[in-house]
This record gives sequence, structure tokens and C-alpha cells, in this order.
Amino acid sequence: MSKKRKLKKNVTVAITAAVVIIAAVILIAILKNKPQTSVASSSSSVQSSSEAQQSSSSTPVSSTPASSGTGSSSSSAVNIVHDFGILMLVNKNNALPSNYTPNLITIPKSYYYTTDKDNHFDSRAATYLENMIDAGRKAGLSDLCILSGYRTYAYQQNNFDQHVKSYEASGETNAQAKIDAAKLVAPPGTSEHETGLAADVISSAWYKRNGTLTADFDNTDAGKWLRANCVNYGFILRYPEDKVDVTKYDYESWHFRFVGVDDAKKITDSGLCLEEYVAKN
Ligand code: DAL
Ligand code: ZN
Repeated sequence: MSKKRKLKKNVTVAITAAVVIIAAVILIAILKNKPQTSVASSSSSVQSSSEAQQSSSSTPVSSTPASSGTGSSSSSAVNIVHDFGILMLVNKNNALPSNYTPNLITIPKSYYYTTDKDNHFDSRAATYLENMIDAGRKAGLSDLCILSGYRTYAYQQNNFDQHVKSYEASGETNAQAKIDAAKLVAPPGTSEHETGLAADVISSAWYKRNGTLTADFDNTDAGKWLRANCVNYGFILRYPEDKVDVTKYDYESWHFRFVGVDDAKKITDSGLCLEEYVAKN
């Protein structure tokens, strides 16, 4: 081969290698930025479904503040929760460490609205949740099911960011979009779903008809039964209609939080919400 041809061949090989490397770098960057799940947007009067879909693993807990995550998390100062007892208070002022992973166990997919849901739950509460749904089904609510149980921090981050984007798309500033999103969806680190102790429980026929979560679920047989019976399984209705000022969330007639049977009875009898109960005890 002539020197000239050899040089030309070497240049061609070098260019091809450079193109392949650049393409690989671009592909990796795209994959890294890809959102984990897609979530329906909501209007101000409507709560979006916010279901979790990713699996989880057992990672050790550290004290990384939840607000250190990237993206649109809450900007206000929050306490970091360190005591993960069954009464742990996770709300807008009390965030989980960003890598908090409860001791999770699997709940059979037959308890879920669809089979693509993350079907993990805190091991202290999973059997109680299954028993509650079994009892409701036995009582005639054959389509009682979990819409959303455990969610990872990453899922909640994406969920929150999607809501912010949808408000921005309707013309709101980023600051206003964050305020409105936070009325419906907890900023990452501050969702009870990340504790593995909370579940959105619904009637699948109602949800299919309704298309989204709305407070009037409380008028359905399923909503009424859950409100009356959740306490026997250690759950409380976490965001009651008369406590919006305290919980800082709109009334969620579908969101149930496990606190254990004894405390669930005390909380329900007292008429307090979890924030008030924890402050008193
Ligand atoms: N919708 C509830 C507040 C949550 O996102 O955890
Ligand atoms: Zn919920």
C-alpha cells in the first residue's frame, strides 16, 4: 500500500472511531436524562393518579437532606426525619433523607389497580393493608384495590416535576407552578408514599369511570367503607377535609396511612390529624 493510501486509511479509521465515540456519549447522556415514568397532568381541581412504577432495593439510610436532590423540590427549610418509627411524621416540614428505603416486602399484584405498579410496602404494614382490602372485598366491594403504595424518591421527584411543568405550560410562573403542584403532590422527600406506610385505595370501576382521583370518592360505597373500617387495620384517613390548614394538603379521601391499630383508634377517636396527635404525644 502506498504511503498516501495508508495515511488516508488511517484518517478514515480515526474519523469512524471518533463518530462512534461521540454517538455513544450522546446516547448515554440521553438515557441518563430520560424520566423514569410518565405521569398525567392535572388541573387545579383534580388530583392526578401519581402511581409508582419502579422497583426498589434495600439501601442504607444516611442523613442526606431531601432538599439536596436535583429538580423542583421544595425550597423552604425542612427538618430531616431520623426516627423511622411507625408514627413517623413526614410532611412539608419534615422530609425523609433522599436515600431512605424502608424495609420493604412485596404485596401480590392482585391487590393493585394495574400490574405495572410498584408493589412494595413497609414490612410492618403490608399484611394489614392486604387484610383491609380482603375484608372490603368480602363485604361486597369486589373491586377495592391499591392505586399507589410505596414510591421511591426518584419517582416522587419526577411526579412533582411533571406537575410543575404542566402548570407552567398553562401560563404560571415557575414559583406559582411549584406552589400549586405542592397542593396535590408532595415534593420529593416529603411524600408519605416514600415511607412505604401509605396507600391510595380506590374502587377500580369508580376510578375507571372518573379518570382521576377526586374527593367525591368519599360518597362511594368503597370510600364510606374505608373511612369506617380503616382504623381496624391500623390505618387513618391522613388528609381529612377539616384539617387542610394543618396538613397543608387538599382533602384526599383515598389516601390511608398506617400507624398501627392502637394509635389509629386513638387518632380517630380524638378527631386529631397526625400532625396534631404527634405534637400532643
Ligand atoms: N398526594 C400526596 C400528598 C402525595 O403526593 O404524597
Ligand atoms: Zn396518596
